Amino acid sequence: MKKLSLVVLISGSGSNLQAIIDAIQSGELNAEIRLVISNRADAGGLQRAEKAGIETRVIDHKHYPDRESFDRAMIAEIDPLQPDLVILAGFMRILSPAFIEHFEHRLLNIHPSLLPRYKGLNTHQQAIDNSDAIHGASVHFVNVELDSGPLVIQAEVPVLPGDDAKTLAARVLEQEHRIYPLAIKLYGEGKLHFDNNTLFYEDQPLVRPLRWKDGQLITPEHV
Ligand code: GRF
Repeated sequence: MKKLSLVVLISGSGSNLQAIIDAIQSGELNAEIRLVISNRADAGGLQRAEKAGIETRVIDHKHYPDRESFDRAMIAEIDPLQPDLVILAGFMRILSPAFIEHFEHRLLNIHPSLLPRYKGLNTHQQAIDNSDAIHGASVHFVNVELDSGPLVIQAEVPVLPGDDAKTLAARVLEQEHRIYPLAIKLYGEGKLHFDNNTLFYEDQPLVRPLRWKDGQLITPEHV
């Protein structure tokens, strides 16, 4: 099967980027990261990319007068590479509808909550404040509404007595590192595709997201 070509967008430490790099290096994921773009020059993920021999660019949003021109600059870097997927991995900028529509059905994000619960920021604190027993992470395709596109896969994480936002975030992050490379792999294997605006897993519309539970993929036929 063809090697999947990826561009990854980051703003921070890049631990999800690292999980994707590791999955590629171990042979688990048949993909190549063509470019890592960061909107911050101090993003730790840039070093991770360089260490793995991946090309990097810093496109600082502060150098652009508005969101649209910043997004156009990113499109200008990404388009010549013709990636199969554009991967948002801790990219902390809201994208313009023009950017999202340009990469429609090719733009993936990871979000630290069980969407549709807790869109936006501070998800871990919200889960604790609401005394949720279960929290988690979601991989989804991006559409123009924030944190709302078609869900691919979720992993649940228990909220433990004594958890604070930091301990809970660390436990969620471990699951993020499992489900993000997995979602990309499933796409690369041709198991995920869109027909019009409906996301399919193999030949079934994915009405509920796939789940990662106890180290196993739970697919629709198992539900
Ligand atoms: C992750 O929690 C991700 O879900 C969120 O931002 C964080 C990024 O972490 N969107 P990292 O940069 O991948 O370590």
